[in-house]
Amino acid sequence: MLSPSRRLSSAYSGIDSQARSGQGKDVFTSATLAVEGLSGLRRPCGSDRSDAGQVTLSFQRKMPSRTPSQERRLRFFNQVIYASMASAYNALDWLTLGAWWRLVRRALRYVPRGRDVLEVGFGPGKLHAQLAKTASLCVGVDLAWGMCRFTQLRLRRAGLPLRIVRGSVLELPCRAEAFDVVVTTFAFSGFPDGMNALREMTRLTKPGGRVVMVDIGLPRDGNRAGMFWARVWERMGDFLYDQAAMMQAAGLEVVTYEEFGPGNHIRAVVGEKRFDK
Ligand SMILES: C[S@@+](CC[C@H](N)C(=O)[O-])C[C@H]1O[C@@H](n2cnc3c(N)ncnc32)[C@H](O)[C@@H]1O
Repeated sequence: MLSPSRRLSSAYSGIDSQARSGQGKDVFTSATLAVEGLSGLRRPCGSDRSDAGQVTLSFQRKMPSRTPSQERRLRFFNQVIYASMASAYNALDWLTLGAWWRLVRRALRYVPRGRDVLEVGFGPGKLHAQLAKTASLCVGVDLAWGMCRFTQLRLRRAGLPLRIVRGSVLELPCRAEAFDVVVTTFAFSGFPDGMNALREMTRLTKPGGRVVMVDIGLPRDGNRAGMFWARVWERMGDFLYDQAAMMQAAGLEVVTYEEFGPGNHIRAVVGEKRFDK
């Protein structure tokens, strides 16, 4: 059996985003990824290793189709809240008297222990730290530097392995079928290009593995409280996706759909990747 770091480096060794997209170098924009604890990481195609622990990867720029006001709200969250207010975001937990964490941690029910797990959009990293304790291999990807730094500190303080990458869900720097579980909480509804994000997460899931999502949505029964809360999120710039339908469209079999939270406007959706896919 390979050690976690060997398996991680092999998970990353198939990176060739340019080859996969079939496009030339000029359409790529460069993003520096902080790769902590990935000393065994092999240099991905189209990348430059600048110094220890830092890898520069080439990402394809994907322009989302959004209205100007959605753009503004997304920019505000990505550039202000997620980038520079990670500790304020983290405070959501005690500001809501633990209610936020109770919603987020629902994802743990669907992540079996001892597996290779990728968390997308880990934010301040509370769930990520839990996953890192029980997974055989736990890797995280988030777009915001602030969140990466905050989570890095959290993992370091807890003495947990640091395997976090700054990058976009639309171009995850891993070979296909590298993880047993790809999990995301309250990040998917903020992805403007949800279907492509889900396809990318599905690509990284092993056959027989699963994509686990905890996120917002319109309650199936249309109850007023749930509709109200979902619309509040939407006003803040989130997308009210039908994650179950999207999983099916991405070729996953939906094995769990559960609504909970205020007015049932939060849902846990689990999609399994069949072996024949
Ligand atoms: C609402 S926060 C959720 C954080 C955490 N998962 C939670 O449940 O509290 C959304 C996170 O997704 C990240 N994010 C936004 N767009 C992203 C993208 N394209 N790729 C990866 N992460 C992204 C943000 O930086 C932010 O940390």
